[in-house]
Amino acid sequence: MQDFINKIKNEVSTLDDLEKVRVEIFGKKGILAQGFAKLKELGEDEKKEFAANLNKQRDELSALIEAKKAELSEQEIDSKMKKEAADITLFNEPVASGALHPVMATMDKIIEYFLALNFSLETGPLIEDDFHNFEALNLPKYHPARDMQDTFYLDDFRLLRTHTSPVQVRTMLNQKPPIRMIAPGTVFRRDMDLTHTPMFHQVEGLVVEDAEKVSFANLKSMLEGFLKHMFGDVEVRFRPSFFPFTEPSAEVDISCIFCHGKGCRVCKQTTWLEVLGCGVVDPNVFKAVGYKNVSGYAFGLGVERFAMLLHRVPDLRSLFEGDLRLLEQFK
Ligand code: PHE
Repeated sequence: MQDFINKIKNEVSTLDDLEKVRVEIFGKKGILAQGFAKLKELGEDEKKEFAANLNKQRDELSALIEAKKAELSEQEIDSKMKKEAADITLFNEPVASGALHPVMATMDKIIEYFLALNFSLETGPLIEDDFHNFEALNLPKYHPARDMQDTFYLDDFRLLRTHTSPVQVRTMLNQKPPIRMIAPGTVFRRDMDLTHTPMFHQVEGLVVEDAEKVSFANLKSMLEGFLKHMFGDVEVRFRPSFFPFTEPSAEVDISCIFCHGKGCRVCKQTTWLEVLGCGVVDPNVFKAVGYKNVSGYAFGLGVERFAMLLHRVPDLRSLFEGDLRLLEQFK
């Protein structure tokens, strides 16, 4: 018996070894079983003492094994933790990480605001036809306002959409009012200078409700909230303007975020920056999509213009040159 006690105490060093010893003691052919088998051969008096002794030894060994088991388990966990620990002093090759393009980051920031207000996100094709891009938006053929948008035409009379407003038309044709949507996307115009590229991005917004339920006042307060989300604590001004698909129409300015009223080059000394176009949906647009007894408002903005203002990019074209020296500043 003492042999086993020594063995457990001094020799056993793994849980597997301990299990082997446990079987040698407690197994079917183990020494305890052998001991109890001997009982038969003993006389009455001897039997009692022998059995009591065996039971005592059994309890002692059992307790010893349990204690050893706990000790070994703990050791095993300790060594496992040591083995699997990360050596944070180890030399590592730096991993080059990319960054969201500033135009896409700006787009995300715009979309985030409207999704929180329960606007749905709609998309449409980049190649459009005359009906969706112009006609249904109250821009009949030969209307002079078509000159506002320098269109790329394809050979088959189709065209590259000049704004995201055709998505308004498509959404109204496919869904019933009420509508509360934004349409972010790529648009194209024949234009190229400091503040224009032939490909750029817009976010369109459209809200349609029952007749007389929404007004210019709703549009105003919604856009004010949006522009404060984008630019912080700015003043917002609505200037009467013209779009064929809205009446009345307005262009929206924010107080110059660079000079704060002093006048600078970016705001051309006006202290205001023009940031978007908007208005109350013209009844002719509702007529074109077959909507009756509704009211609505719409707005459209250029994402690059927002990105330029937010990041003070002086030349819009540089955003699309893929120059890492510029793009890496946005990590
Ligand atoms: N589609 C107009 C543009 O591209 C912007 C706009 C959208 C204005 C919706 C009013 C309402 O200039």
